[in-house]
Amino acid sequence: MGKQYYTVTYGCQMNESDTERINGQLAELGYTEAPSMEEADIVILNTCSIRQNAEEKVYGKIGEIKRMKEKNPDLLVGIMGCMAQENKGKLISRMPIIDFVLGPYHIHDLKDVVTEELQERQHVVRTQMNPERVKDYSELRAARKSHIFAWVPIMQGCNKFCTYCIVPYVRGRQTSRTVEDIVREVRGLAAEGYKEITLLGQNVNSYGLDFRDGTDFGTLIRALDKVDGIERVRYMTSHPRDMTFDMVDAMADSPKVARQMHLPVQHGDNEMLRRMNRGYTIEHFMELLAYVRKRMPDITVTTDLITGFPGETEDMHQATLRLLREAQFDSAYTFIYSPRQGTPAARMEDQIDDAVKHRRLQELMDVQNEISLAKNRAMEGKVYPIIVEGATKQDDNNWYGRTSGNKMIIFPKEEGLAVGDLRNALVEQGQTWVLKGKLV
Ligand code: 5AD
Ligand code: SF4
Repeated sequence: MGKQYYTVTYGCQMNESDTERINGQLAELGYTEAPSMEEADIVILNTCSIRQNAEEKVYGKIGEIKRMKEKNPDLLVGIMGCMAQENKGKLISRMPIIDFVLGPYHIHDLKDVVTEELQERQHVVRTQMNPERVKDYSELRAARKSHIFAWVPIMQGCNKFCTYCIVPYVRGRQTSRTVEDIVREVRGLAAEGYKEITLLGQNVNSYGLDFRDGTDFGTLIRALDKVDGIERVRYMTSHPRDMTFDMVDAMADSPKVARQMHLPVQHGDNEMLRRMNRGYTIEHFMELLAYVRKRMPDITVTTDLITGFPGETEDMHQATLRLLREAQFDSAYTFIYSPRQGTPAARMEDQIDDAVKHRRLQELMDVQNEISLAKNRAMEGKVYPIIVEGATKQDDNNWYGRTSGNKMIIFPKEEGLAVGDLRNALVEQGQTWVLKGKLV
């Protein structure tokens, strides 16, 4: 029997996308996907360093793999992604069962490492930042999970240096793929029958600025809107500092671009935003949000919030609660501030007590959940076009699809229904996280 791989992904969509390219490389070597980790000949963890708890999950998994390797010494173990970049060779000195450590710029090397280098030496570590590699991203075959929905990375890295964030250190400076390269990949996906693509970047609104030739995210949006065959274009993540009114116009004028925007505000207090080095004020954010909604009244807007950032007073926390009520996001991803070694915020005084952080997190979630529920209830009785995604995890007879605004509608399966079908769904019941309804 041929060799099998097992890859575990932690963190964001960029990592999910990278995993598809990692799996694509292994497939080119003749590996197939193992049904379980225990059956694999090679296990790769594609890791995340965004918060401490993401790292802890990985360390837990490595413990599990160590026991597997004691039984099967031939098992190959690789650490890739952001923790690989952050910890480099230290990972292997701490945990010698790891055979190789490859940073985010080294997916290209995986085949050589597995077939040649590990024959000659025991361990391989590659973590050089190599932005040139972003240019040949499309050469990396992806073993995509879906044949309807595809991730398309449009850039790597980030130049923003928010004081809490480790991404600029582990993913390096911003490097964009060219418009031509991206359009070529998307045309190829359309030809293969893909219906929906999601453009990925740490800060998509600064896409193309590194070319210094006038190219920006609006240019890319306008180009992709013309690709025949693709029904929907989504993207994430936006940055309120780099999102221009012109980009909002580009989006509003592009019927294929989904009516969905993930626009992380992070905090409701200007002094906190300044300490986070976010580069905008709440007033600017609200003005931008108002323009987005004026141009696209039906748009879904979601956000990220950090609670318990150093120096956050009770008044500042109240400002975030007020912002939530005013901004009326469809949903908010709320995170407890996690100090990341090497970032400026980790060295700031006035770190907040854990119990206070947890209480504030709960207060944010309580306010937002009420808003999310009200928003979803307001959709009751209306009909929305959806792309069918398949059965829910819980029940084969209940299927789901998403609206242009990325809201999930669950409905009873109909005879002959297939993944990728374009249908209309009537919302009968709005809940906090999902909508229930039926096809019409
Ligand atoms: N602690 C907590 N949350 C963080 N994020 C980024 N860095 C940290 C950190 N050190 C959050 C931000 C970002 C999201 C992806 O993760 O809200 O938008
Ligand atoms: Fe994790 Fe952030 Fe890296 Fe994504 S960019 S993999 S969330 S650390």
